[in-house]
Amino acid sequence: MGRKFLVGGNWKCNGTTEEVKKIVTTLNEAEVPPEDVVEVVVSPPFVFLTLVKSLLRSDFHIAAQNCWVRKGGAFTGEVRLNIVNQTYIAVEFWSKLREFHIVMALLVMTLILAEMLVNLGIPYVILGHSERRLLLRESNDFVGDKVAYALSQGLKVIACVDRISDWTNVVVAYEPVWAIGTGKVATPTQAQEVHSVLRKWLHANVSAEVAASTRIIYGGSVNGANCRELAAQPDVDGFLVGGASLKGCHKTTKVFQA
Ligand code: G3H
Repeated sequence: MGRKFLVGGNWKCNGTTEEVKKIVTTLNEAEVPPEDVVEVVVSPPFVFLTLVKSLLRSDFHIAAQNCWVRKGGAFTGEVRLNIVNQTYIAVEFWSKLREFHIVMALLVMTLILAEMLVNLGIPYVILGHSERRLLLRESNDFVGDKVAYALSQGLKVIACVDRISDWTNVVVAYEPVWAIGTGKVATPTQAQEVHSVLRKWLHANVSAEVAASTRIIYGGSVNGANCRELAAQPDVDGFLVGGASLKGCHKTTKVFQA
């Protein structure tokens, strides 16, 4: 079964309204392969989800950068305490200023529910990103629970996880930590090697069909200059792009067009 190439732009915690509008305008004007050949997914910070949804062309999709592990209800206080505790552990050696910014960012980011994303018409969510694992100590189990819950609510998930019974709506992202935001991209051979191991794992542990149909995308310093060679690898089915997806436009468009 053919796998549709996927290019995801993860804007992480960046942007102002004006900057977001500018990037969206450029994306809207970009010439990219048709939707049935390449799927484009952009992932703005939560506060800009509805703005981007209202402006973005309809053949591009939107992903949230996180969602909570279960349904909503009267447990806001517990969530906040939990977040603060985890954050304090993660940043105990960091400066007070940095600590403050992270706490504020997480309070905004973590109270988003899968149900809210569905309600907003956001089809994708990124779960288990290494930045969250590092800063928030998100464990495999916790990420697995979040993925299972997001899928149960009808979201598609870009994830690296272990607790999935139906792989139809899952895209696996391989992101070597040393390559994220460093400018040090994996070589095409390195990426292919790991993607091939992941596909073999799916073959051995899930099924031949799932191994053949699940998209495995690469993230870590992808840009317009290095994406073409990576994309030529047989087991590289797309990208999760961070920095270059924000740097206007020129580079972003090149990645989408490669
Ligand atoms: O989600 C995206 C990845 O963390 C890659 O980020 O392209 O800035 O290295 P980067």
